[in-house]
Amino acid sequence: MTRPLIQLPSLFFCLSLFHAILSVAVAARPLNCSDTKPTRRSLLNNGLGLTPQMGWNSFNHFPCTLNEELIRETADAMVSTGLAAVGYEYINLDDCWAELNRDSKGNLVPKASIFPSGMKALADYVHNKGLKIGIYGDAGTQTCAKTMPGSLGYEEQDANTFASWGIDYLKYDNCHNNGESPQDRYSKMSKALLNTGRSIFFSLCEWGQEDPATWAPAIGNSWRTTGDIKDNWQSITSRADQNDPWAAYAGPGGWNDPDMLEVGNGGMSTEEYRSHFSIWALAKAPLLLGCDLRSLDDETLGLLNNKEVIAVNQDKLGVQGKKVKKDGDLEVWAGPLSGHRVAVVLWNRGSSTASITAKWTDIGLKSSTVVDVRDVWTHSTIPSVSGQLKATIDSHACKMYVLTPQ
Ligand code: GAL
Repeated sequence: MTRPLIQLPSLFFCLSLFHAILSVAVAARPLNCSDTKPTRRSLLNNGLGLTPQMGWNSFNHFPCTLNEELIRETADAMVSTGLAAVGYEYINLDDCWAELNRDSKGNLVPKASIFPSGMKALADYVHNKGLKIGIYGDAGTQTCAKTMPGSLGYEEQDANTFASWGIDYLKYDNCHNNGESPQDRYSKMSKALLNTGRSIFFSLCEWGQEDPATWAPAIGNSWRTTGDIKDNWQSITSRADQNDPWAAYAGPGGWNDPDMLEVGNGGMSTEEYRSHFSIWALAKAPLLLGCDLRSLDDETLGLLNNKEVIAVNQDKLGVQGKKVKKDGDLEVWAGPLSGHRVAVVLWNRGSSTASITAKWTDIGLKSSTVVDVRDVWTHSTIPSVSGQLKATIDSHACKMYVLTPQ
């Protein structure tokens, strides 16, 4: 018998090694001109998500403990804290909002014990505040918490139900999916949403398992690239890294989603939350708040309502910033903005204070360029800087800048 030249296990090993080397190479290389344009070819034609979505979702702080009073109070708080005024608009319900079983006509039914007024009344309430409302479903037979049915096989019916309630956003999860291809399952719901005639933002929650960045731009407005985030440092750094290699697939109409924000949930320091928020903003991630908006402290609000950081996230050029340089735990992340500006984050992921330098060539600027450097956290400007940016940065902290060429 002739032996194959390369045996299968070693072929897999070589391929994984190649992939690993490629990911590291992609993970930290200087920006160049081709980085300034999205490479996606097809877009979901629903006119939504031209910038990353901003809003709130119940899951991080209230997993399976939501109810209509919480949603109404959160909508109230979104407005009274000023967060609505800086761009947060969606109020999104996550898992556990429906009864375990469909009604006799096969419709999803809001759980009467927690949503006694029904979804239409809740949507009206949220809309009257000038906000939009999102709901959660699953591309399988049951949702992840197993407390309500999934929409597999009921895509048209459920999309029509959501539209009839006035829903503006669907987060669509991936549990209990019978092993069917995600492309098929998610495409069905995408078409069903379009067929309703209502503008409904479509957020795929496939956890990045089958590289959704490569196929989801045609059917959704955002797609999760990672498993669930947790309120700790290891979780946010690893989610940032897992999301980073997909940068070229994001752009106006569809965004990589490293999961919702944990800022304000209490598990990290203010500087760690500042890093979390800065990197999510630079990486054009959805800014979906995950804390209790009814009891925000001033520090948390001061992170979440920073208009200059939000402006980086919402910049109309829509190019995802990425890790361009790495020296151990010291990293430079950068991305182009409209008007030939550049956003830069110097990020110290190590355990002691250190100095980090970003040379112009690391961040896509010509060596001769002279820029004004705006620190978007201290709100101060250093005029006429050439060659490089250098700063001393505390452990787990970052500095974030917008550079404007003169
Ligand atoms: C997970 C999903 C979370 C949350 C949860 C609800 O699959 O990634 O974001 O929606 O299900 O049970």
